Amino acid sequence: MATIVGAIGTSHVPVLGKAIAQKLQQDPYFKPWFDGFTRVHEWLAETRPDVVVVFYNDHGLNFFLDAMPTFAIGAAEQYRNADEGWGIPTLDPFPGEPGLSWHIIDEVIRRDFDLCTCQEMLVDHAFTLPMKMLWPEGPVPRAVPIAINTVQYPLPSAARCYALGQAVGDAVRSWDEDARVLVLATGGLSHQLDGERAGFINKPFDLKFLDSLTDDPRWATRYSVEELVEHTGTQGVELLMWLAARATLGDTAHEVHRNYHIPISNTAAGLIALEPV
Ligand code: DHB
Ligand code: FE
Repeated sequence: MATIVGAIGTSHVPVLGKAIAQKLQQDPYFKPWFDGFTRVHEWLAETRPDVVVVFYNDHGLNFFLDAMPTFAIGAAEQYRNADEGWGIPTLDPFPGEPGLSWHIIDEVIRRDFDLCTCQEMLVDHAFTLPMKMLWPEGPVPRAVPIAINTVQYPLPSAARCYALGQAVGDAVRSWDEDARVLVLATGGLSHQLDGERAGFINKPFDLKFLDSLTDDPRWATRYSVEELVEHTGTQGVELLMWLAARATLGDTAHEVHRNYHIPISNTAAGLIALEPV
């Protein structure tokens, strides 16, 4: 049976892709962020995941306003990136793990989650940058991308994303393969890119949210999506991914490492690594 070795949450700011392409990791602006990965790289070398399940939100590359699934899962042999207009070089395709994709689809749809299944799926910066930051030298584990809509309202509630994560966690643990699986969430923490509150950041809320992930993981599910937007900004609501990933671990988790740095571009950039207890 497969084992979940841990969960990671990380921000996915496009300018980090430029920093990687231009080798600016030690530049004073980016250093506090990239240095946060040193401990996580060591931990990944110890935990040796074969497969990574990635909760991320597509920003208009694969899904647009004409057809927007609330929850979508990739079931492809590989996932291609394409130009999104951020000026980040496009990357080689990422290997998929369709065996686990179809197992999750079977189990999770049986538990009444209506997933959109995608046998072709372009992945945007929310997928590619965290993969590059976590495995800068490669090779990357085989991936199962799961996209949660944070673009076209109404969005799924925090409680629903948590419940999806629980179902995905159970599905992974019942996969009949001797695989080590990492769960990754990308997005957040607080940020707002446009409108009157552009630049909005809420450090106290972010820190409370990070604290909650160890032993009070349902804490954020008390908030409606609109309340989360109020507390974290229009794009801060991407923290829904972190709730789904955290829920795969069960009730308690141990924090291996965290980093929190303001700002990267407009974002309060967060990184956390958690182990199941
Ligand atoms: C930024 C943050 C994001 O989460 C994103 O998807 C795009 C841009 C930013 O802060 O620049
Ligand atoms: Fe984003």
